[in-house]
Amino acid sequence: MPSKAVDTGKYLKQVQARTDKLLDRYLPGVDVPPHLLHEAMRYSVMAGGKRLRPILAWAAYQYCGGDTEGDDLAIHYAMAALEMVHTYSLIHDDLPCMDDDDLRRGMPTCHKKYGEAVAVLAGDALHDVAFNLMASTGSTAVVVELAHAIGTDGMLGGQVADIQAEGRDVDREEIIDIHRRKTGALIRCSVRVGAILAGASADTLEKLSTYGARIGLAFQIIDDILDIEGDQSLLGKAVGADCKKQKATYPGVVGLNQAHDDAAELIAQAKAVLDEYDDNMLVHIADYIAQRRN
Ligand code: IPE
Ligand code: IPE
Ligand code: MG
Ligand code: MG
Ligand code: MG
Repeated sequence: MPSKAVDTGKYLKQVQARTDKLLDRYLPGVDVPPHLLHEAMRYSVMAGGKRLRPILAWAAYQYCGGDTEGDDLAIHYAMAALEMVHTYSLIHDDLPCMDDDDLRRGMPTCHKKYGEAVAVLAGDALHDVAFNLMASTGSTAVVVELAHAIGTDGMLGGQVADIQAEGRDVDREEIIDIHRRKTGALIRCSVRVGAILAGASADTLEKLSTYGARIGLAFQIIDDILDIEGDQSLLGKAVGADCKKQKATYPGVVGLNQAHDDAAELIAQAKAVLDEYDDNMLVHIADYIAQRRN
């Protein structure tokens, strides 16, 4: 029997490959005008990345017994949409007016390659294509989920709070609130979208929402930890960037050791809400988030 770690790695690679195929299918071609905009969108999306949000949507969909046969599935539109929205958020997050980063996914950031104006527009356009795809699922519920998760109540609100916290002392409650919104909301949404499209019961949806919220917060705590302890060549983005920008970070508030402990505790609590069965991928994905090096 292969070990669970090997199985998880294989699963992640398979869903990453499925996601990449979908992204290539649904992104406008560079041969279609406006060529430069489409080129910039593809540049950032196809640069890679872990594809965690589509993986979570797919795994939650499977967990809830969604139909995985065939090529034309509503969940496929949703997976591509979630990754496009995430990439849009990265392009804008890297802009000089935000985190001012030059490296992303191992390559120059979108604005470094195409200039700020095109980078802003590429982000906007990815947001647009994403909502079009989400609507193509035929489920109004998932469109609303996404709008809510990335709006002023979720990701955007968190990004504003993140900027406003620069250079200022924050307490644990405030940094948790920022992280839940700027990163946790889209991760929780990805899990919920998969469950909704699979027709999950209200009870299961509630459980998976709790799972998603906990791994989502843990994910950003670990992102902050990796900015201190990580390896730039593995991360594909600069380390030490938070300190340079005087960002409010979780380890900055509670210390590195406590940050490690709190992330591990959140992962354990996330797994605890799930039903136990063999090869429950959501459990393995939670472990993968805890152990990730990129
Ligand atoms: C980075 O997200 C930004 C955060 C929300 C912390 P990821 O770490 O998922 O980045 P990619 O998609 O793998 O590049
Ligand atoms: C990014 O958080 C959150 C969003 C993009 C919404 P960070 O600013 O910490 O992400 P990285 O470290 O640049 O990837
Ligand atoms: Mg940021
Ligand atoms: Mg950033
Ligand atoms: Mg970061």
